[in-house]
Amino acid sequence: MSDAIGIGMIGLGTVGTGAVQLLQDAPAAMRRRRHAEFDIRRVAVRDPAKVRDVTLADGVVVGDVQQVLDDPSVQVVVELTGAAPAYEWIRAALQAGKSVVTANKAVIALHGAELFDIALAKGVDLMFEASVAGGIPIIRSLRNGLVANRVESLHGILNGTTNYMLTRMTRGEGDYPEILADAQAEGYAEPDPTADVSGADAASKLAILSRIAFQTTGTAADIYCEGIERIESSDIDFARELGYTIKLLAIARLAPGGVEARVHPVMLPQDSQLANIHAEQNAIKVVGSAVGTQVFTGAGAGKMPTASAVVSDLVELAERKRAGATTSIGDMIVGDEAARFASIEDAEIRYFLRMQVADQPGVLEQIARILSAQHISIASVLQKERDLQGGTVPLVIVTHEARERAMQQAVQAIDALPLVDGGVRLIRMEAA
Ligand SMILES: NC(=O)c1ccc[n+]([C@@H]2O[C@H](COP(=O)([O-])OP(=O)(O)OC[C@H]3O[C@@H](n4cnc5c(N)ncnc54)[C@H](OP(=O)(O)O)[C@@H]3O)[C@@H](O)[C@H]2O)c1
Repeated sequence: MSDAIGIGMIGLGTVGTGAVQLLQDAPAAMRRRRHAEFDIRRVAVRDPAKVRDVTLADGVVVGDVQQVLDDPSVQVVVELTGAAPAYEWIRAALQAGKSVVTANKAVIALHGAELFDIALAKGVDLMFEASVAGGIPIIRSLRNGLVANRVESLHGILNGTTNYMLTRMTRGEGDYPEILADAQAEGYAEPDPTADVSGADAASKLAILSRIAFQTTGTAADIYCEGIERIESSDIDFARELGYTIKLLAIARLAPGGVEARVHPVMLPQDSQLANIHAEQNAIKVVGSAVGTQVFTGAGAGKMPTASAVVSDLVELAERKRAGATTSIGDMIVGDEAARFASIEDAEIRYFLRMQVADQPGVLEQIARILSAQHISIASVLQKERDLQGGTVPLVIVTHEARERAMQQAVQAIDALPLVDGGVRLIRMEAA
């Protein structure tokens, strides 16, 4: 085993344990690649006394991360903690000339540019397949399998928690607050669910995918982001009536002003592929100039799917080492061809608008006039007189494609109408 690759792990929780199990079990496909031999030399955790589901040699598990970083027999550091200092640990490992494999999307999305530069300068790799869409090999597909394509667009269901919640709401199993409470009780949502329900988690993942697909340099902070917190059962009911399903989508596409990137709830036609990705599953639809449309779907999280992605990175590292290849990190450095994220204001989108309006003649006319002044044309109107509540009735308007900037101005004007009670609810629509 002398030429086995020395692994140092930081974190032996859900994903770390799965990764160790896969390395110890070495499935047949891995065993056939005989050069992919690994030796787990050191593992840092918070509490080394904790009983684990895996057995490691005495002295391997330690309580101090520095022991992993300082160990000269560790060639690859596998960071699987999600802890606050993860960025510092990854940077220190790279600076010490060790390759790094991580599942930490926040660190890659926020600090990727700096870390890729360090890795390149040090001649080591920084691999992060597990950071987006768990077990789905989307990063490897974009970097390798689809490398001959110009990616035209990318639509992803990248957050399992919100997809699980929206699936249950669509099945009529409750409204947002009760479904969120259920999701927390069942372990699908964190005690603090903000990163998931606000769309921030999906935006970090979209920033990573966009860097690879479109050479963008921005972070999640540059991506328009709206979560699912305001989705109500009535939105879902109206969507169903119109033939649509509501999903939280991460979208990036080439646009004249740059790369349009946004995360928000979307109404998708019920028969579209992404509308039929249920529960905690993830999916990414990629349109490439040569391959056309491809949809990747599968488990976006979980112990073994995520560990599968971690180990695939390790095997790739081993193969490169064996072949004497230089690192693969160069293609993550965005140079002259860097693209910027375009503002959502220039995006052309179809919209679903829902509002409670006074049950009086002339209301629709006033709203139509505001939309027309912004060059927004109406595709259909749905009004339910029988739902009369407190003198108001629900009014739903679906528009043709319009500019986001114009729509925001129209919404402001409609919100100010005395006949509209409680403001406009807007959900964007996609043909995907
Ligand atoms: N779980 C998933 O399905 C999934 C999917 C995709 C990506 N990820 C990412 O994978 C990473 C790991 O997630 P996980 O679910 O495996 O987490 P987890 O089960 O909470 O495990 C975290 C591990 O990190 C260790 N740790 C935490 N803080 C530490 C510190 N300050 N020093 C040393 N060790 C520390 C913990 O030690 P103790 O065991 O002693 O407490 C534990 O072993 C995160 O970045 C997460 O976002 C997870």
